[in-house]
Amino acid sequence: MKKYVDFGCIVCSHKALLWTIAAILFAFLLIGLSIIVSKSLPNKKDHLLPPDDYSKALHTALRFFNAQKSGRLPKDNNVSWRGDYGLSDGNVKGGLVGGYYDAGDNSKLHFPLAFSMTMLSWSVIEYSTKYKAIDEYDHVKELIKWGTDYLLLTFNSSATTIDQIYSQVGGAQNLTQNSGDVKCWQRLEDVQYERPVQVTTQGPGLAAEMAATLAAASIVFHDNMEYSKTLLEGATALYNFANDKGKCRSYSLNNSNIARHYNSTGYWDEIIWSAAWMFYASGNISYLERATEDTVATHANAFSRITDLRVLSWDNKLPTAELLLTRLRIFLGSGYPYESLLRRYHNEAVRNMCSYLRQFNVFNWTKGGLILLNHGRPQSLQYVANAAFLASLFADYMNATGVPGWYCGPYFISSDKLRFFASSQVNYILGANPMNMSYLVGYGDKFPKYVYHHGASIRRPSGNTKNEKVYTCHGGWAWFDSAKPNPNEITGAMVGGPYKSDKFEDDRKDRSHTEPTLAGNAGTSCCIGLINHQWWDWY
Ligand SMILES: *[C@@H]1O[C@H](CO)[C@@H](O)[C@H](O)[C@H]1NC(C)=O
Ligand SMILES: *[C@@H]1O[C@H](CO)[C@@H](O)[C@H](O)[C@H]1NC(C)=O
Ligand SMILES: *[C@@H]1O[C@H](CO)[C@@H](O)[C@H](O)[C@H]1NC(C)=O
Ligand SMILES: *[C@@H]1O[C@H](CO)[C@@H](O)[C@H](O)[C@H]1NC(C)=O
Ligand SMILES: *[C@@H]1O[C@H](CO)[C@@H](O)[C@H](O)[C@H]1NC(C)=O
Ligand SMILES: *[C@@H]1O[C@H](CO)[C@@H](O)[C@H](O)[C@H]1NC(C)=O
Ligand SMILES: *[C@@H]1O[C@H](CO)[C@@H](O)[C@H](O)[C@H]1NC(C)=O
Ligand SMILES: *[C@@H]1O[C@H](CO)[C@@H](O)[C@H](O)[C@H]1NC(C)=O
Ligand SMILES: *[C@@H]1O[C@H](CO)[C@@H](O)[C@H](O)[C@H]1NC(C)=O
Repeated sequence: MKKYVDFGCIVCSHKALLWTIAAILFAFLLIGLSIIVSKSLPNKKDHLLPPDDYSKALHTALRFFNAQKSGRLPKDNNVSWRGDYGLSDGNVKGGLVGGYYDAGDNSKLHFPLAFSMTMLSWSVIEYSTKYKAIDEYDHVKELIKWGTDYLLLTFNSSATTIDQIYSQVGGAQNLTQNSGDVKCWQRLEDVQYERPVQVTTQGPGLAAEMAATLAAASIVFHDNMEYSKTLLEGATALYNFANDKGKCRSYSLNNSNIARHYNSTGYWDEIIWSAAWMFYASGNISYLERATEDTVATHANAFSRITDLRVLSWDNKLPTAELLLTRLRIFLGSGYPYESLLRRYHNEAVRNMCSYLRQFNVFNWTKGGLILLNHGRPQSLQYVANAAFLASLFADYMNATGVPGWYCGPYFISSDKLRFFASSQVNYILGANPMNMSYLVGYGDKFPKYVYHHGASIRRPSGNTKNEKVYTCHGGWAWFDSAKPNPNEITGAMVGGPYKSDKFEDDRKDRSHTEPTLAGNAGTSCCIGLINHQWWDWY
């Protein structure tokens, strides 16, 4: 098949070519897109790779997900200080047992949880060969399944039409109550307080993100037909919920228990993102139609030039959606009548990449070389890791199609520059920074020891737990206030990150800089794209 690559924003006006491409595209759809999706990046090496710094970092980062698991933990979960908990979560039929805790507290927040799983799935779809080569393939799939099994419990996954989704378990509840995550500092294995479930009956943002998660995972699990089918059916129900005109309000609207944590500020980005994944997973052209509707793109501000919309986060999927659809155009061609919108998404994806390059001064940078995608506010690293993922992926798309670079306005930019951006940012996270601090716990010689995390900060009872001291809601604060490092290492956690001055206080009380999150760690899969490019030496 002729590859259809058009990087310089040059309009291809050969109608005949478009029709040929359209015909080929439809032929592909018939035989199943998902097969093509997982095969279109070059898959050369299948022997074990020698461990380089990025593969070591990825081994480490993935272990964070093990530490955040909720429910009945598997025997080989490999986090000695964690135990079963949340076995009666969601006092509803089937329960809400399982999933992941969001961050340093004891709550499960499904919006960022779903986003994290989508990102992990995408990285597996693109780089399954590398995951196999570093011996993390089974592990990462197990982590995804831990998330998707749980998400399938949060709505009626045996129905084709649903009208509610459980969106949260626990959380900083009613602040006037004398319990909950805010008032208590406890290992969650010891928690007695109620962790109420939030139900949402509206909200395309949550439903569409979950549809994207399950659709992407259905590709990851294509070797397990039964499970893959279950995932896609669940995704379809969620997708329909998300596109129900009667439910078009933010899922966090008027629910402060949700909005306090992850307030979704728009949902059209998730509509495009989910439609793209539904298309990849099912080959059903109606999803591509949806993703490329003019009105949808307009609602999502896809062509608005708002700088912040170039920054991928748990709240803004626009840059990922644009790149995912660009992928379609690069590898499969798009075909009439989708070409016009896909070309515009492709141009935006390209502009996103340009904005990450220092020479164009779109964002500020720290003296130590970190791009300030969230304008110097706390938790800078999650945005940086996400951008590094997108950049290294786009560089790989170019490499896979033999394209040496792209244009930012009149300037030709070699794809190496993008990979350099990605590795320089990941290197910063891993220790190449003025603090000489690796912000990934357990990686390198110097990493945070005072991570804001209930479970990691309290010594777990050893031996006969019946007679051991259990720290109460209020008693546990002694651990929070302790000047000593955490007794438990939360291996693999990427903390919020440094100040815009490059400074970092390793201090539990500095929550917004020392707390790790699922959504933050999702970006650490950016390392997979960088493995074995050996650019570490450049720093
Ligand atoms: C558990 O962690 C240790 C220490 O990093 C590692 O050597 C071991 O392979 C891990 N085991 C499993 C089953 O993941
Ligand atoms: C789920 O949907 C199925 C099929 O529509 C229905 O039979 C079942 O009662 C539903 N379950 C719940 C808990 O609503
Ligand atoms: C918060 O908790 C207090 C005390 O239990 C209760 O009186 C109040 O109604 C609760 N408020 C909400 C919004 O749930
Ligand atoms: C949300 O709350 C505002 C103000 O209390 C109210 O005007 C609005 O109707 C509510 N929206 C929904 C969807 O409940
Ligand atoms: C959540 O986002 C909406 C829309 O941007 C905004 O109106 C609302 O004030 C936000 N709520 C909170 C609690 O931040
Ligand atoms: C494709 O998706 C649309 C919208 O969800 C649906 O109505 C249609 O039946 C699907 N077509 C096939 C062949 O599955
Ligand atoms: C960059 O920093 C300057 C000076 O602090 C500030 O005015 C500007 O808004 C920042 N730009 C961005 C994109 O954050
Ligand atoms: C790009 O692709 C070529 C040929 O496939 C390969 O030899 C080269 O190492 C790649 N370069 C990078 C930086 O990925
Ligand atoms: C980081 O390492 C460099 C080079 O070894 C050293 O000059 C510098 O003082 C270190 N900075 C900190 C904050 O430890």
